[in-house]
Amino acid sequence: MMSSVAAKPCMHVKCRAPMYPRDNISRFPVSDEQVSWSKAYPEYNPPDHTSPSVLAKPVWADPDFRDPAFPQPKWNDLDGKINRKSHSGPYEIIDKVPRNPVGRTGVCGRGCLGRWGPNHAADPIVTRWKRDCRGNQVKEGISGKPILQFVAIQRRDSGEWAIPGGMVDAGEAVSVTLKREFGEEAMNSIEAREDEKVEIEEAIQDLFQNGKEVYRGYVDDPRNTDNAWMETVAFNFHDETGRSVGRIALNAGDDAVGVRWTDLSSSVKLFASHELFVKQTAMLHNSHW
Ligand code: BGC
Repeated sequence: MMSSVAAKPCMHVKCRAPMYPRDNISRFPVSDEQVSWSKAYPEYNPPDHTSPSVLAKPVWADPDFRDPAFPQPKWNDLDGKINRKSHSGPYEIIDKVPRNPVGRTGVCGRGCLGRWGPNHAADPIVTRWKRDCRGNQVKEGISGKPILQFVAIQRRDSGEWAIPGGMVDAGEAVSVTLKREFGEEAMNSIEAREDEKVEIEEAIQDLFQNGKEVYRGYVDDPRNTDNAWMETVAFNFHDETGRSVGRIALNAGDDAVGVRWTDLSSSVKLFASHELFVKQTAMLHNSHW
């Protein structure tokens, strides 16, 4: 049995791209060698950027804890309903705000993330075997291994293909987030008719009873900053016979503009660290990669 891959990678790449997403702010350049906080970088002077949507104080966003008007929250702990614990272990608080556990990103503040420190997400990786028209498993020519397919959505924000995950709401159990996000993004449960809603609900309920965790930890997400970053828990839900979710029509909804069953292989290109999570899933099933 493979255990979940976890914790804190020592490098991030996507959150050092030249431009910060959505708001088009230039990141201060950070080379691979300059990522680690333990490496001196005296010229480092990242822009302090928090998106207007976060400054507008929606319910999912923190106040500016650098401002003495706001008492410090319970960092590294459950803070009321808000989970400020990192899956990678304790993070440091520098000048009243958390510091990215992997290293420099070229931007400080929160960017478009609502929480200082970890922002928690959950990712359902729903899989089935690829089958031919007679219902037989399809094997890849060179590896000879059966091909696994997973449900991918196309994100509204970046246009990239991704796992249909989403943010864990304050006080919400991860198991609830996994089902909710899959229903909303891959089956458009929000806009379904009442009878369709029941069918979707039953299929998800059934399949999501037995999940296997494949990843828990930091995500190399393009929205990360020096003080706010994404973390996730990714679970695989496998429809072995293809008769559960595998047979219900997919329908993109909410934050997704496209949805499809996608063959798993090393050539798949996905948002943030999602390639790593689907690779783990392929290893779990000993399928073609
Ligand atoms: C996405 C998740 C993703 C997380 C971290 C969330 O916005 O919905 O799929 O894993 O960000 O990148």
